Amino acid sequence: MNNSFAQKIDENIARVADFPQQGIQYKDITTLFQNPELCGEITDTFAEFSRGKVDVVCGIESRGFLFGIMIAQKLNVPFVLIRKQGKLPPPTISQSYDLEYGSATIEVQPQYIHKGMRALIHDDVLATGGTAEASAALIEKCGGIVTQFSFIAELSFLNGREKLNKFTSEIQGLVS
Ligand code: PRP
Ligand code: MG
Repeated sequence: MNNSFAQKIDENIARVADFPQQGIQYKDITTLFQNPELCGEITDTFAEFSRGKVDVVCGIESRGFLFGIMIAQKLNVPFVLIRKQGKLPPPTISQSYDLEYGSATIEVQPQYIHKGMRALIHDDVLATGGTAEASAALIEKCGGIVTQFSFIAELSFLNGREKLNKFTSEIQGLVS
């Protein structure tokens, strides 16, 4: 991916000061959807990275659903939702993980992850890596193999990638 493409994506992501907490600068990737042509290019770039390498795309609630479903459609593979606790009907398998304060739980419907399936975990932002790490652990619990991760924005200074290297080195972040 070239720098001007990354720059174009970056310019189309809004920054919101002090959201959701004081001192945090929030990257609002939903502004990308005001630019359909750019969204098409982003989807193509993600699909190129994953073509022939995954059997399923797993999107993390909620903003990981947005490009996740488009990548799955491009690749002609199934899309599976990784959701926050209590949102999916049974049967579900869950995975808990630590947050800065407290913990969170995510769930998936295991009937969609077959043994040996190669999975892409997709989300909008890689921050500390806790959510993506727990998602990968969840998919492995179901018998899947996490072969790739992709994100629109990677907040490199938080070193989230370090939590994901144990699953695969194939990690794509379009902007940092
Ligand atoms: C944000 C973001 C990622 C996650 C990254 O989601 O969309 O999913 O945090 O953080 P981490 O790498 O430190 O785990 P959020 O929990 O705000 O939920 P949302 O996508 O439903 O808005
Ligand atoms: Mg999220």
